[in-house]
Formats: sequence, structure tokens, C-alpha cells
Amino acid sequence: MDALREIVPAVAARLPRLTLGEWPTPLEPLPGQEGVWVKREDLSSPHYGGNKVRCLEPVLGALRAAGQERACATGAYGSNQALAHVVHGQRHGFTCGALLFPQPPSPSAAANLRALVGLGPRLHLTRSILGFPWEYLRLRRAGVAVVPPGAATPAGALGHLAAALEVALAVDAGQAPAFRHVVLPVGSTCTTAGLMLGFALAAARGLGPPPRLLAVRVTPWPVTAPWRIRRLARRAAALLASLGGPAVDPLPVRVTGDFLGRGYGHATEAGRAAKARFAALGGPGLDTTYSAKAAACLLACPLDGPTLFWSTKSRALPPPGDATALPARVQAWLAEGEG
Ligand SMILES: Cc1ncc(COP(=O)(O)O)c(C=O)c1O
Repeated sequence: MDALREIVPAVAARLPRLTLGEWPTPLEPLPGQEGVWVKREDLSSPHYGGNKVRCLEPVLGALRAAGQERACATGAYGSNQALAHVVHGQRHGFTCGALLFPQPPSPSAAANLRALVGLGPRLHLTRSILGFPWEYLRLRRAGVAVVPPGAATPAGALGHLAAALEVALAVDAGQAPAFRHVVLPVGSTCTTAGLMLGFALAAARGLGPPPRLLAVRVTPWPVTAPWRIRRLARRAAALLASLGGPAVDPLPVRVTGDFLGRGYGHATEAGRAAKARFAALGGPGLDTTYSAKAAACLLACPLDGPTLFWSTKSRALPPPGDATALPARVQAWLAEGEG
């Protein structure tokens, strides 16, 4: 099902996209948690899923439309975005690279980097975050199409807009209750910006009252400053209108930093407890960098009325590759994450 085509066919016809995921992703109750439902973005693809598949559809679609054959992903060593980019980019004939900067070690970050190595993209592994902008510019100057971290672009946000439309259509069809709240992690801001616009568009098309969005910081201010999130949502709204869609004001969003802990990639006690609780309930698997922090918020904050948890961490994972050719410092990082 293509929710974009159902609600805004003119936009669907004009927005270059590749189909990477299996849509719609399931929408189901979280067992044992009265009133809590889950949008299973973790199941968006059997090859590698998660929320990032959404924004990659228009982002890789635009590169294909521009005739690009090489596409370089960017992010942290354990980036889901970079892994999704390489998995799906390669499946669609791109020659992929990945420019990555260090992050705190963790089991899921290490597993991602091992899986990435197995796919054989050209890797640029900087020694620190400070080296990242230089390498980014160098690659761009060399003519490589470099996708920004999180694929956080207006086109990328329109990929997530489609997910909000899927939820609104399911609610309208009586398959789920009208949600009062949506809780999700916010990292690069792309997903949140897309949902702010998507739920506003759904409401403008008569698909129920919009939910309140609660975005749980997994990266610090200013990356997740509300003004940055709003700016991306407004740019996505302008793109939507330029493609023949209606003029829509994105919804407001509440942003909380209470579950971030020491910062990006640092696991928190509350996150670990939420991960264990979800496992005990039979809910989706969580990772300590992103989804567990949002789940910790969901479990801690009393939210009145039906609440939708946005499950973003892919359940599928490609097999690990041989990492012995990586620099010693990166092998040490892998071992620490796995230890
Ligand atoms: C598993 C997971 N959840 C949430 C996010 C945050 O989404 P966004 O970057 O669109 O804010 C990411 C970003 O990479 C992610 O990988």
C-alpha cells in the first residue's frame, strides 16, 4: 500500500522514490500495556528495516533521478542510517560508501559495523568527530553524492510523512484507536519532522484529530533543538506544496531531553530497564542508543489516552563480515562494544 498515493496522488507521482520497504508496516497493541500500540517500523524490510528505510526511499530516488551511481552514507560507526543506505543502495545498483565517525561502543553499534563491513562498501572511518566535516567536504568536492547524517533532508522527511498517513488510514479504517500521543526517538530530526507534517496533512484531509508528538532526544541540543526540527518540517511542507500537495502547517512537537543520559550512544539505566521490559512483554527488540530511550520515556511518562510507540530499530540484520582488515583502533572499538 502506498499511503502517499492514496492521500496526495499528485505528490506521489512527482516525488522521485525507490521502493525499498514493505508497506504498510504493522500497527499492533503492545501486550500487557493497556492503551499502548506500536508502529512496527522495525519490520520495514527483511533485508534491513527500521525507520531509516522511509527517508532513503526519496533520498536515493532523487540520486537515481539525478543520474548518480555512487552514493556515500554518513553517520556514527554503528549508524543504522549508513547500514540501511548501503543495504538498500546496493540492492538498487548504487556503488555505496560510508563516512563514519566514532561513537560510544555498544553491542548493537558493533553488530551494525560488522554487518556493514560484510557488504564491502568503501569505508572512511574518521578518528574523531572533528575529522568528520573535513572528510565530508573532501568527498563532496571530489564529486561524491554524500547523504547527510540521518538523511535529514526535506525529501527524506516526506518519506516519514507517508508513515503518518499509514497510521491515519488504519485508524480511519477502525483497525486501531485514534491516538492521543505518539512517542518516538529524535536523532537527526528527520522522522519527527516528517510525522509533524504527515499527521497534520492527515487531519487536514479529514482523517481524525492529530495526535500529540513527544520526541525523546537521543542526540543533544542543538542537533535536536525544537527550532531545527520545526525548520526541517517547514522545509518539507514547502517541498510538499511545490510538488502539488496542499499547504499544511506542521504540528507542534514536545521535545524531552530527560532520557538522553550522558549523550548520544551512551546507554542509560532507564533505557536498559525499558529494553528488558519490552522483551518481557513480547514487544519489539530495542537498542540502547535510540529506541530504548524513547521506550523509557513511554514507560515513565503518564500519557492519557491511546498512545503509539514508534519502533525504529530494525529487527533484520545482515550477517557480519570479516573486520580484521579494519584499523586496530576500530577493531578495539568493536571488541569493547561486544565485551
Ligand atoms: C533506530 C533509530 N531510531 C531513531 C532514530 C532517530 O531518527 P531521526 O534521525 O530521523 O531523528 C534513528 C536515527 O538514525 C535510528 O537509527
